[in-house]
This record gives sequence, structure tokens and C-alpha cells, in this order.
Amino acid sequence: MINTEIFQLIAKKFKTPAYVYEQELLKTQLLTLANAILWRPLTILYAIKANSNFRLVRTLVNQRLPKGVILGVDAVSPGEVDLALRAGVSNQNIIFTGNNVSNEEIDTVYKKGVMVNIDALSHLEKFCRKHSNGRICIRINPNVGAGHHDHCITGGPDSKFGIWYSQAQLAQNIADKYNVHIVGVHQHIGSQILDPDKFLYAMDVLFEIAPIFWDLSFVDFGGGFGVPYSPEEKPLDIQSLGAAMSLIFTNFCDKYDRKLKMVIEPGRYLTAQAGYLLVKVTTVKHNPDGKIFVGVNSGFNHLDRPARYGSYHHIVNISNPNGPKRKVRIVGNLCESGDKFTPEERKIAEPREGDLLIIENAGAYGYCMSSNYNLRPRPPEIMVTKRGSVCEIRKRQTTEELVASA
Ligand SMILES: Cc1ncc(COP(=O)(O)O)c(C=O)c1O
Repeated sequence: MINTEIFQLIAKKFKTPAYVYEQELLKTQLLTLANAILWRPLTILYAIKANSNFRLVRTLVNQRLPKGVILGVDAVSPGEVDLALRAGVSNQNIIFTGNNVSNEEIDTVYKKGVMVNIDALSHLEKFCRKHSNGRICIRINPNVGAGHHDHCITGGPDSKFGIWYSQAQLAQNIADKYNVHIVGVHQHIGSQILDPDKFLYAMDVLFEIAPIFWDLSFVDFGGGFGVPYSPEEKPLDIQSLGAAMSLIFTNFCDKYDRKLKMVIEPGRYLTAQAGYLLVKVTTVKHNPDGKIFVGVNSGFNHLDRPARYGSYHHIVNISNPNGPKRKVRIVGNLCESGDKFTPEERKIAEPREGDLLIIENAGAYGYCMSSNYNLRPRPPEIMVTKRGSVCEIRKRQTTEELVASA
């Protein structure tokens, strides 16, 4: 945990609002996951959509991993592929999992030597026609979904993702017709999963279908590993999940009679807890009905999750930590009534105008989902190292830049 003095120093030096990342925690999360899953070979594809800051990605890429574990990238756009390459990830350790992407995008990425994860039968047919002898991965919708919000459930009958599981044989037939090798099978059932049974059940379902693909070299279970956002949420027991995943995988490989590579695609698990949004209180409004609105110098243009999903983010008043607890609503500075960091009233050590607040667990789906709504600049991103040194890893946008490019 970054200490208060460092947050105060950052506020002084770089002003607020600012995203702040704890470098050591990024490394620890990666190592914890790598050690929890016992199966080797294991490829951890960092879902770069969770946080695509170049220096943050480099921190993960540079981390030494246990023998038999490789870090790669799960990319969903040509831009993410290029960023991963620029960050030093080998093209052989990138999988492009596009959804409703164009065939041109698929070709562009494939030409860079990146594994393409095909999401629709129509794309499969077109790809196979062009790339006889090619090697691809197939994304399956296993009719199982999970996640913290409807918008984050990516499997099941209402999901737009993947090839429906009962069409798996059809997919293999198309590939066979053109002599294309389906070397990987993939699923990603949703995000922020805290119930290991959901994840394990989905693995079982995928393994019922997987033998249809006779030429596999890897199986990719996607991401979705959750982290606790509220004090009531229990952390995922990653050790027992990792052990159970390894056992299921061993049993499948024995049955399939081939040693396969296990692939996972964590995003949030690696970066969420390492990030904070540091904001300043601009306004405290005591209404006659007793409601207290605490306005800060940021909004859903910087951290969208509370407004978009009603997500809980823990908020701490670091300027007045021992102040009396007050029931308040922390709200943003946008002209939108949904611009709230606390969807519900919450007890927080009394915020006063000028106080600094930290919004926790902002390292995943934070900056990367930010916008310039209301023509407000994006905040800077700051990395704090193990020794407590502070480094600006992306500059604050300026109003002048925004106005000039409008
Ligand atoms: C295909 C795929 N893999 C991995 C992830 C990462 O999910 P999470 O950040 O929940 O681990 C996502 C997130 O949307 C995804 O779509």
C-alpha cells in the first residue's frame, strides 16, 4: 500500500486528479498467479485492455517468471497488438481475440505472425480460404457465463462472443476442408469472477467439446479472475483454484493423449488493486434534507466503472483519516446526474473542501476507459516504485490540446 506522504507528494508535484500505480503490487500479483497454477507449460496472456499504459505493460513483461511460465498478451484490436509488440512481447506470445472485427484486421494481424482467435464461423470460412495450412485458435461460447454485471458476462445465450459450442464440429469440418490447423481452443466467460466453481465448471464444459479439435496444442480459459472491491468481498482463493485447474487440465491431457499448453488471460487480477485515482474535494454541499454531496475534481470521464456498472470502489480520505465518519455521496464534476463515485450513500471520514481522497482498485478498466467528455483533459499516470520513487508515466492532457484538436 502506498503511504499517505507519497500521495501528498504526488498531489503537490503532479496535481490532481492523477492515476497512481504501485509497481511492486503488479509484480506480486503476476507471480502469485504464476505460482498458483501448477501446470506447465503455462502462458499468461495479460489482457492488455485492462490497462494499456506502456510502462505498466513493460513492468509485467520484465518480470522474471518461474520456469515453464511465459508472459504474453491478449489483444483485441490491431492497436493492442502493436502496443504489445512495442513493449517487447514476441508475436508468438500474442493472441488476437477480436469480436466482430473486419477480415482486413484479421489479415493484418495474422501477417504479423500473431495467433488469431476466430470468433465466428463466417470469419473461419473466409480465413481458411485465404490461408490454407494456417494455424488458428477458435473461441467457443460454452453456454456458461459469469461476472459482476450483465455487461461483463461473455458466455451464454445472450452473449455476442464466440462460436456456439454445438457448432464446434462444424468449425473443425471447415478447417479440415482447407487443411487449416485449429491448434487452440478458447473461452472467456466473463469478468470479476469470485466464485471458483463457476470457472471450474466452465473448464469442464470446454473440455467436453475440446476433443472435437484433433490438432490442439493449447487450451485458453480466458480471464475473469476477480479481486475484492468492497471490504465485504472475499478474495478469490487463487491457490486452490490454481490447483483445481491444474488437476482438471492433467486429466484432460491424459484423455487427449497429448501434453497441451495451458493459457489464461488475466487483466483485472494483475492490475486492479495496484491502481488508485487520487482526487481533491472541490465542494461540500449540505442540503436542508440532511444529504451531503461531496464534489471532487474528477468524474466518470476518468473512472467510469461506478457510473457504468454501479461498481463499488473503496474511498479513503487521506487528509482527514481520523475525522468523524459522515454519510456522504462522492460525486464528480461532470454535467451528468449519474456522475457518482458512490452510487449509494457511504460513511467516510469527514471530507472537507481541499481534502485528498483516494479511490482504490482503479488500476484495471480505469484510465483505458476514460474519455474527454465535457472537454476535460485526462489525468496523468504516476508509477510508484518499491523504494517509493515517483515517476510520471503518462502526462496530463492539457485543455489547450483538447481545444486545438476539437
Ligand atoms: C477475451 C478476453 N480475455 C480476457 C479478458 C480479461 O478479463 P479480466 O480483466 O476480467 O481478467 C477479457 C475482458 O474483457 C476478454 O474479453
